Amino acid sequence: MNTNVLYWGDNLPILRNKDYFPDEFVDLVYLDPPFNSNANYNVLFKEASGAPSTAQAEAFKDTWHWADAQDTWAELHNTAPKRVVDALEAFQKIIVLQEGRFAHNDMMAYLVMMTARLLELHRVLKPTGSLYLHCDPTASHYLKIILDTIFGATSFRNEIVWKRTTAHGDARQGSQHFGRIHDTLLFYVKDAKFIWNQQYTPYEQDYIDRYYKYVDETGRRYWRDNLTAAKAGGDTRYEWKGKLPPPGRYWAYSKANMEKLEAEGRIVYSSTGTPMYKRYLDEMPGRPIQDIWDDIRGLGGLGSDSNQRMGYATQKPLALLERIIQASSKEGDVVLDPFCGCGTAVLAAHKLGRRWIGIDVTILAVTVMKQRLEEAFPDLKGKYRVVGEPTTLTEAQSMASPGSTLETRYQFQYWALGLVGARPAADNRKKGADAGGDGYFSLVHSSDGKKETYIQVIVQVKSGHVGANLIRDLAGTVGNDKLGLFITLEEPTEPMKAAALAAGLYHNPLMNTHHPRIQILTVAELLDGKSPNLPPHRPGWERGGYIGQQVPQGEMRMG
Ligand SMILES: C[S@@+](CC[C@H](N)C(=O)[O-])C[C@H]1O[C@@H](n2cnc3c(N)ncnc32)[C@H](O)[C@@H]1O
Repeated sequence: MNTNVLYWGDNLPILRNKDYFPDEFVDLVYLDPPFNSNANYNVLFKEASGAPSTAQAEAFKDTWHWADAQDTWAELHNTAPKRVVDALEAFQKIIVLQEGRFAHNDMMAYLVMMTARLLELHRVLKPTGSLYLHCDPTASHYLKIILDTIFGATSFRNEIVWKRTTAHGDARQGSQHFGRIHDTLLFYVKDAKFIWNQQYTPYEQDYIDRYYKYVDETGRRYWRDNLTAAKAGGDTRYEWKGKLPPPGRYWAYSKANMEKLEAEGRIVYSSTGTPMYKRYLDEMPGRPIQDIWDDIRGLGGLGSDSNQRMGYATQKPLALLERIIQASSKEGDVVLDPFCGCGTAVLAAHKLGRRWIGIDVTILAVTVMKQRLEEAFPDLKGKYRVVGEPTTLTEAQSMASPGSTLETRYQFQYWALGLVGARPAADNRKKGADAGGDGYFSLVHSSDGKKETYIQVIVQVKSGHVGANLIRDLAGTVGNDKLGLFITLEEPTEPMKAAALAAGLYHNPLMNTHHPRIQILTVAELLDGKSPNLPPHRPGWERGGYIGQQVPQGEMRMG
């Protein structure tokens, strides 16, 4: 079956592929698409030592332009249900009309792109399935109307407000609006019979103090609950211990049931002798969760759970996904996240015994996700599939070929770095590939039991012709205090091997082992499972280091 699989690529063609996604195949969809916030998100990392790193790489572009959406717009006119097209046409009138003329703008492009994907997601959902669209007030009002046209207005269940932060940069001094601190989750179901497991949170202390204020002889807290009812449920107006229910009311239970409760010690009496029900706190599930979620911290703010952070700027907290998955699926169900980023939904689904499918258009996301999954569940290695990644030398060559787009060639570089667990260097797009390496990672050099020191491994990726001068350049960058890995698509020449040998050996005091200071690895060898000759080290994508910062796009140039 096509589950426990990660797809690398644009989710629209992948979702439309019926071999991957037959009709009514998925139980729960969570999607957290870019919000049309016109930002480019960057992945930022920390060094193994915990110090902030300058490393960053553009993860995805949150920009949607009409030029990209026009084909889809035409296609929707031919294929989408009429009411969906009508809604988009109406949006076009209200959003796009500028100075009396129609001008296609980016919001319209975004809505067209989202509509095409939401139609497909509706198709792949089982009749008992649910969909949660995570967005923000930039576009949530439009998206809700689109969802109404696709799912039907009666399929709407909730608009959930998730308070993702307590303070936000856009409410700084001088801003002329209230702080924007929440995201919106639109929850829809496909049909009237859907999977639903009520979720609860523990009662707040002031609620417990107010209602569960009695403690019995065994130390159990209880609430003296009313034992009368407004409506008669059978024979419920009788005398109990000399008392009748107040005028117009009835006992909540029949006489036989009252006797049973009395025998079980579940009835207490007020000072005036009124019977009351002993409702124990420890028997209550808690407070049913409402539609305002302020109890799950985002990963950006103070006091947030830094342990979860993968350096992926838009990463969502695991607890948020766990709540959604627990409420709207059961064990063994299929959870799909078509914009899965660093895979929070996939990780939460696996943790909760669900099957999962993740899709992302950037190889960087897929690389981070693989690392994250295998770190959390070491047994998963080899037990899930990645579709779309190059698996053969020919596929890797075609990705890196001069005929590929610049973006694809960067994806090749990120993919190759991922093969050795390296992260992209800060400015490999800006300055070109040769400025101090394309990527790097650190490993532990020594430790006195309290403090560790680290050594950096500089990684260079080359897809074109290579010569010994490049190896000597790498040796120059590495010097005596770093290591160098040279990844090449082409076979290294004898002079290159000689130049690598000339760089000598590195001694690791921690393990008391020696390793070549410069190593050449071919993509073919790495695809065959060969690893660099290094002392054991932690995965390259260190935890920590999340900074949800947006940086201006650098000049795009390949080295
Ligand atoms: C907001 S992030 C998701 C973050 C994720 N929820 C997490 O916790 O890590 C959106 C993701 O959608 C991906 N994306 C954007 N357009 C896409 C497309 N057309 N197909 C698949 N993925 C896409 C981006 O690469 C990015 O990783």
